Amino acid sequence: MSFHQVKESPRPELFDFHGVPMVNFFTDNWENIQNFQARPDDILIATYPKAGTTWASYILDLLYFGQQERQTSVPIYDRVPFLEAFFPPHHSGKDRADNLPTSPRLIKTHFPVQFVPKSFWEQNCRMVYVARNAKDNMVSYFHFDRMNLAQPEPGDWSNFFQRFMEGKMVFGSWYDHVNDWWKKKESYPKIHYMFYEDMIEDTGREIDQLCSFLGLSPSAEDKMKVTGGVQFDNMKKDDMANYSTNPVMDFKISPFMRKGKVGDWKNHFTVAQSEQFDEDYKKKMKDATLQFRTKV
Ligand code: A3P
Repeated sequence: MSFHQVKESPRPELFDFHGVPMVNFFTDNWENIQNFQARPDDILIATYPKAGTTWASYILDLLYFGQQERQTSVPIYDRVPFLEAFFPPHHSGKDRADNLPTSPRLIKTHFPVQFVPKSFWEQNCRMVYVARNAKDNMVSYFHFDRMNLAQPEPGDWSNFFQRFMEGKMVFGSWYDHVNDWWKKKESYPKIHYMFYEDMIEDTGREIDQLCSFLGLSPSAEDKMKVTGGVQFDNMKKDDMANYSTNPVMDFKISPFMRKGKVGDWKNHFTVAQSEQFDEDYKKKMKDATLQFRTKV
């Protein structure tokens, strides 16, 4: 379905796909995606939606290709293709990834870990996973579902809040996503697991750690350019980063670069919701080694 048709059509419905709630835009190209041929230097940027995908993509893109003209002419979603996206007759994310002229190729996915095409593992590719605390992630996802016509209707906040806890979101349960990727690190060390809150707290420190994972050693000057360039206000006003060129998003409802903060959940959760949420969270998040911060 073309972007134009998406705008004219009712919102997509969630359905169960191999045990994960999904919408057709990310499952229709399944066979081709599963057969994707990764290269050893490909870098997969994996996230639950709204955890900071674009931010991480921008950082990686600047680190590798900061000097190139594409910074001012190619939107970030074309530089870092979204592997599972399928909106014919537009090129699929998989085809875009196949045709990326860069080396390394930076590829984005929101897949839960068990959906990642096997050649990424076989080729021992580096993967950068970004996770964000559940409360802010939920709020960001709510506003995103309001403005993105290719996402299911969010309903009202209290309804969305329940659905999030039940894991009935596109790409499934936040709880499973962050936990399963975390566990995967034990058997697959080439996953660099980052936290949105850490990036807010000290972007430079996080970029240093990312660089050591990637084996990069940018000059102090280049590093400063990257750190400065990816600050929220800069990305918000950069049309190549802020998704303003994306036709299925309605910025009159909510901008893509919305707030970029830790703790906005406090403006959305009632006290009762926060208590209910925390109670449920304890039951679902048993792994004490995986800790999130809801304030910095
Ligand atoms: P909010 O809706 O809370 O503002 P994704 O790229 O995974 O879709 O995530 C989008 C979220 O990351 C949005 O969160 C967006 O504002 C935030 N974001 C994007 N770039 C950012 C940056 N440079 N600094 C802080 N937050 C950023």
